[in-house]
Parts: sequence; C-alpha cells; structure tokens
Amino acid sequence: MKHTDIFDVLKKPELLGQEVTVCGWVRTFRDSSAVCFLELADGTSFPRLQVVIDKKALDVDAECTKLGASVKVTGEVVKAFKGDGHELNAKEVTLLGKCPPDYPIQKKRTTLEFLRGIPHLRLRTNTFNAVFRVRSVAAQAVHRYFHEHRYYYIQTPLITASDCEGAGEMFRVTTQPYNAKYESEAEYYKNDFFGVKAGLSVSGQLEGEVAAMAFSKIYTFGPSFRAENSNTTRHLAEFWHIEPEVAFAELPDIIEIAEDMIKYLIRAVLEECPDEINFFDSFVEKGLKAKLEHVATSDFAICDYTDAISIFQKADVKFQYPVDWGCDLQTEHEKYLTEVVFKRPVFVTNYPKEIKSFYMKQNPDGKTVAATDLLVPGIGEIIGCSEREADYDKLLAAMKARNMDISAYKQYLDLRIFGSVPHSGFGLGFDRFVMYVTGMENIRDVVLFPRTVNNIM
Ligand code: 4AD
Ligand code: MG
Repeated sequence: MKHTDIFDVLKKPELLGQEVTVCGWVRTFRDSSAVCFLELADGTSFPRLQVVIDKKALDVDAECTKLGASVKVTGEVVKAFKGDGHELNAKEVTLLGKCPPDYPIQKKRTTLEFLRGIPHLRLRTNTFNAVFRVRSVAAQAVHRYFHEHRYYYIQTPLITASDCEGAGEMFRVTTQPYNAKYESEAEYYKNDFFGVKAGLSVSGQLEGEVAAMAFSKIYTFGPSFRAENSNTTRHLAEFWHIEPEVAFAELPDIIEIAEDMIKYLIRAVLEECPDEINFFDSFVEKGLKAKLEHVATSDFAICDYTDAISIFQKADVKFQYPVDWGCDLQTEHEKYLTEVVFKRPVFVTNYPKEIKSFYMKQNPDGKTVAATDLLVPGIGEIIGCSEREADYDKLLAAMKARNMDISAYKQYLDLRIFGSVPHSGFGLGFDRFVMYVTGMENIRDVVLFPRTVNNIM
C-alpha cells in the first residue's frame, strides 16, 4: 500500500503543496458547520496529523470518523492553520477497518492500571506510543555506543546449566511430563532433555567473560529471566539486560565506562525524542527534561558502602529495615541515598562479600568485594557491577564457601588458569533505564507484555 509516513508529512518542507496518501488510526474527530477535522496517528511521530475535510466537497463515510477506525487519506499538504507544522486537505478518505463504540481507548484520560489490562491496545495511546518510541531509540543507542567504542556484540545462551547470580531464582527448563516419578532429583534430571538440571539464564555474564578473554571488549543485549517472587514496581520475570565485559579493566575503569554509557544514552534520547520527553515532562514527571539534561552533563557521585551505612545510621528518618554494617540495602535506603543525600545518580562501592556474588574480586581487607551498584533517584538500582575475581585460588575458595557445584563451573575456572587478566563488567537493566528516562513509575508500563508473578497475559 503506497503511502507516506505521518512523520514526513509533518516535518518535510518539500512535501508542502504536494499530494500524498497517509494511513493511520483516527484519534479525534471534530465537526463544525463547513468543515470537519480528523486527527490521525500512524505511530511514526508523536504529533498527529490534522486532516481537514471540506464537507461540501467531500462526503465522508461516518465510519471513518469513529475513534480508533483505520483510514487511508489522500490530500494536499498545506501549512497548518495554527503553529508552524503541516496539515492535510483531504481529497479522498477511505475506510480500512471500522471501530465499534466499545473501543476501550477513549479520548478522556484513563488510568495506567486500566490500560495494563489491555496490553494489546494500550500502545495506541499517547503515553505508550511515546514510551516505546523512546525504548527503541535507546536500544539503538546502546548498540551505537558499544560499536563506536569497539565492543563486539555477542549472543549468550538463554538456556543454561549454571546459575550466574546463585540466588536460586532460575526458571527450570524441562520436557518431563508433570507426573514423572523418580527416586531422586539426579535421576529425574538424567531423564530430562539435557540430562542435567537446566534453566533460563539470569545473566549472560559468565559466557560474556569467556568472550572478553578473547576480544577484550564485548557486550550482550538480550533477555534475562528471574523467578523472583517480588511483586514490585521494578521487578520483571523476563527483563532486558545489557552486559558489557571488559578485559584489562579494574573497578574504577568500569565505573567510568558505566557513567559514560548512561550519559550517552540519555543524550541520544534527548536529541532524538524531544516531543516525547516534553510530553513526559508535562504529564508524567515534572522536571524530567531538566533532570536528564543535568544528569547528562554532571558527575555521578561515588559512595563507599561503609560510608553509606554511617549516613543511614545518622539519618533523621525512621527506616522500616534498620541498617547495620553487613546488611543488604533495601529500596528505602537506596532512595534515601540518591534522592535525599546526593540528589543524583550514585555508585555505592565495596559491598560486604557475604551479600554479593561469588565471582566478585575480593578486596585486600578480606571483608568486602570490588563491586558497585548504580542507584538513581526514583528507582534505586539500575546497574550491578564488579571487578571479577581473576585469581584461581581465591575464586575457588569463594565458590566452595558457598557450597557451589564446582564441576558445573570448570570452564569458568579455566579462564583463571589460561592467561587470566584483571577484568570487570556490569549489567544494566534496560527496562529500568527506560523507566528512568521516561519517568514511568511502574516497570509494567515500559514493557510490551510484562511477565510478573501471576501475570502472563
Ligand atoms: O545486579 P544484577 O543481578 O547483576 C547481574 O546479573 C550481573 N551478572 C551483571 C554483570 O555484572 N554482568 O542485575 C543487573 C541489573 C540490575 O541492576 C537491574 O537493573 C536489572 O539487572 N535487574 C532487573 N530488572 C528487572 N527485573 C528484574 N527482576 C531484575 N533483576 C535485575
Ligand atoms: Mg544487583
């Protein structure tokens, strides 16, 4: 079907005075005595196209004026009556698909919660249209950033036999019938598809390290899966994960890279999605644009975990979870640190080894690891990062202390035998990043079909 994107009709000066055909969905309809107006959206641009219909010259099928109907319009591109954009003087309006009055997306603003119940239709609203356009632009920028910095994009397996984070949050992958009866767990899995227990990967890091030991700089960008039973506004069972892994890099190096990448992504969104960011600034998070401009141009804070603990202990607020050195930070602590104390993104560094993963480099103090989480106002953690333990004996000891099945990690340990080097990496939760740049407060509203506890619509 030959037609022109509404984006081009609105923005391209050379189309003024030309006849074009556009296709889209009716977003509003206004009728006055001599003319009527259709606003059309085709998803290629945030602003919609106003179609002006001269009622004397053109008899339009009433079905073409119904909210949600899909139509094809041919007409002349003219200067808009208001503003400096373009509009279309219709010569022919053809109905493509009618839309009955019980169409759930009506003109008046509905709640995000209501829209979560119709994930197949909510993308046609302004809000979701803008969210997913930003999401796409940000994803392109991720690839561009790494490509420009000579990182190789690798694809790590989604089905795996080893648990990277060791938090027991793996979904199982099985072909066993539900009523299989076996004497032992080992026997059960022996009869399964892979002959061992397998699951969906929580992270591509372990395989990413393999590639970094050959290419120096790699990244992954794909889904990770976590059977976390946490029904929060920032957890998904299936989320998109960006994981760079860098050889010859220590913790301060990877912190610099993470900060540089986040700023690059924010700049890309500001440059490529001005209409969307203005919309979010007005209707979703007041001050969002100024926040992003500030973040893109100023230094992130760095705060040692031990210092953070004393900040919490001296704080003039009552936390639901009291803090002691050694405890894991809860969302309330993360928010306090970024929103009240630093008022900007902050890297919390050098966590107690007991609350972090086996692969992190052990610091000389014997108590902490060279790890950092990047916390941002409004969300909390968006990046988990560390230098990796490159010493074979120390890594093995850390795995044994956690009662891990060493045989499942032979290849990972081999990397510490054959030309081991200092290396570091991080994982950025892409969905959480999209929340941060759009101001959306619930992770379910930045994902097409969110998978969460009890929800797989
Ligand atoms: O902190 P995490 O668990 O770190 C890792 O997985 C490391 N292997 C990363 C690495 O060093 N290569 O997860 C990294 C990030 C988190 O900071 C968070 O943004 C996101 O992934 N994330 C989730 N996002 C949505 N839903 C969930 N259930 C998430 N779990 C983690
Ligand atoms: Mg983490």
